[in-house]
Amino acid sequence: MSLTHPQRRPAVPGAPAAPDAPAAPDAPAAHVHGLHATGDPANGAPATGWTVATALPVSYRVRFTPGVLDPRNPALARAGGPPGRRLVVVDARVHELHGHRLRRYLAAQGVEYETHVLLAHEQVKTMDAVFQVADRMDAFGISRRGEPVIAVGGGVLTDVVGLACSLYRRSTPFVRVPTTLIGLVDAGVGAKTGVNHGRHKNRLGTYHPAVDTLLDPAFLATLDRRHIGNGLAEILKVALIKDENLFGLLERHGHDLLDTRFQSPGTGAAVLGRAVHGMLQELQPNLWEHRLERLMDYGHSFSPTVEMRALPELLHGEAVCVDMALTTVVALRRGLLDTGQAERVLRLMRRLELPVWHPLMEPVTLAEALADTVRHRDGRQRLPLPRGIGAGLFVDDLDGAELADAAGRLRTWAATGGADAVRGSGTRA
Ligand SMILES: NC(=O)c1ccc[n+]([C@@H]2O[C@H](COP(=O)([O-])OP(=O)(O)OC[C@H]3O[C@@H](n4cnc5c(N)ncnc54)[C@H](O)[C@@H]3O)[C@@H](O)[C@H]2O)c1
Repeated sequence: MSLTHPQRRPAVPGAPAAPDAPAAPDAPAAHVHGLHATGDPANGAPATGWTVATALPVSYRVRFTPGVLDPRNPALARAGGPPGRRLVVVDARVHELHGHRLRRYLAAQGVEYETHVLLAHEQVKTMDAVFQVADRMDAFGISRRGEPVIAVGGGVLTDVVGLACSLYRRSTPFVRVPTTLIGLVDAGVGAKTGVNHGRHKNRLGTYHPAVDTLLDPAFLATLDRRHIGNGLAEILKVALIKDENLFGLLERHGHDLLDTRFQSPGTGAAVLGRAVHGMLQELQPNLWEHRLERLMDYGHSFSPTVEMRALPELLHGEAVCVDMALTTVVALRRGLLDTGQAERVLRLMRRLELPVWHPLMEPVTLAEALADTVRHRDGRQRLPLPRGIGAGLFVDDLDGAELADAAGRLRTWAATGGADAVRGSGTRA
C-alpha cells in the first residue's frame, strides 16, 4: 500500500526552493527556503531584520513484522540505525510476559543492551515518567543519532518514551514495538508523543515520530479482553468516519476478533491493515496538525475531559466510544444518519463490549469538555460528525440544548436499547 499524497522535498540548508516544488499540504505559510534579510545589505547597509525559512523533511516507517522477537529476525536489531548498542524501555507488564523472549532475541542478535522497565498506565503518564526515561538515557550514555531507543509497550509507554526522546538533546531517534491494539493501530503509527498534565489529557507533548515502528499482532495474545475492545474502539472510529468496508468487517467479525485476540489468520490481518492504512492516509498530509479539521479527531471532542474525570474507570478507547455514541445521536438528529444506521452503530459498539454511555455525559461536563476542545481547535468547534457510515463532515454550531437532548436520547437507548429512544420525537431546531 502506498500513500500517494505529495511529499515535502528534503531541505537543502540555504538553497532556494525548486520552482516546481509541490506545496506542502500542511505548510503554515508560503515561505521559500532561505535567509531573507530586510534593509539594504546588498548596498552595504546593515540588515535590520531577518526571516529564516526552512522545511523539515520527515520520513518514517511503519511495517507489519510478524515474529519480531524471533531470534533469527534481524528487523528490530537493525531498525532505525546500525546494529550496536540499544537502550530498551519496556512496559512492566510486557516485561513480565515477554521479557524472556526479548532478552533471548537481543542476545541472539548480538545487541549490547540495557533494559529499563517502566510502569505504564494512564495515571502514571506524567512528566515524572519522562524524566525517568531521560535519566536512564543519561546513565546509558546514549549517542545522539546512531542508537535509537527501543520502546516496547502500549500507547502510554510509546507516548512517554517518544516525548523523552524528543526532548533529550532536542531530538533522539526511537523505534516503537507496540504491544496493545491501540498501539498497533493508533498510538504506534502517528507522530504524536505526550503525557497528561494537570487534569488534562496529553496536554504536554510533541510531534516526534519513531523512525521505525514494527507491528507484531502476536503480542495481542496476552492482552486482556477489555483492552482488545478498547483498541477496537479506535478501529471503529476509522470505520465510521472513512471506511464503510471496515465497518462491515467489524460487524461480521468484530466479536470473533475479541474472542481470538486477532490470532486467527485472515480477517484480523485485513482489519489491522485497513485500520493502519486509513489512519496514515489521514495523518500524512497533516502530520503537524496545521489544519485543525481532522477526521481522526472523531470521538476525541468530549472524550479527553470525560476520560480524565472518570479515571481510572474508563480506558482511552472506551471514552472515545462514549463520545462516538453521543455524536452518532447528534448526527442522527441532524439527518446525517438515518435511524437504521444509528442503530447499527450503537449495536456494534455493544457487540464489541464497549460502553455507549457514562454518567459524566451530563450537560455541565459536556459543555466544559466542548469549551476545552474549542480552545484546542483554536476558537472553533470543528466537530467531526459521521455522514452515513464511512464518511464525515465538520460542524461549528453545536449548542448546549442540542447536546443535552442527544445525551438524553442516548441515555435512554443505553437503558432500553430501543430505536425509539435515539429517534426521539423532535428534529433539529
Ligand atoms: N500518540 C498518539 O497518537 C496516540 C493515539 C492513540 C492513543 N494514544 C494514547 O495511548 C494510550 C492508550 O494506549 P493503550 O490502550 O495501549 O494503553 P496502555 O499503554 O496503558 O496499555 C494498556 C495495559 O496493557 C498492558 N499491556 C501492554 N501490552 C500488553 C500485552 N501485550 N499483554 C498484556 N498486557 C499488556 C499495559 O501494561 C497496560 O496495563 C492513551 O494514553 C492515549 O492517549 C496516543
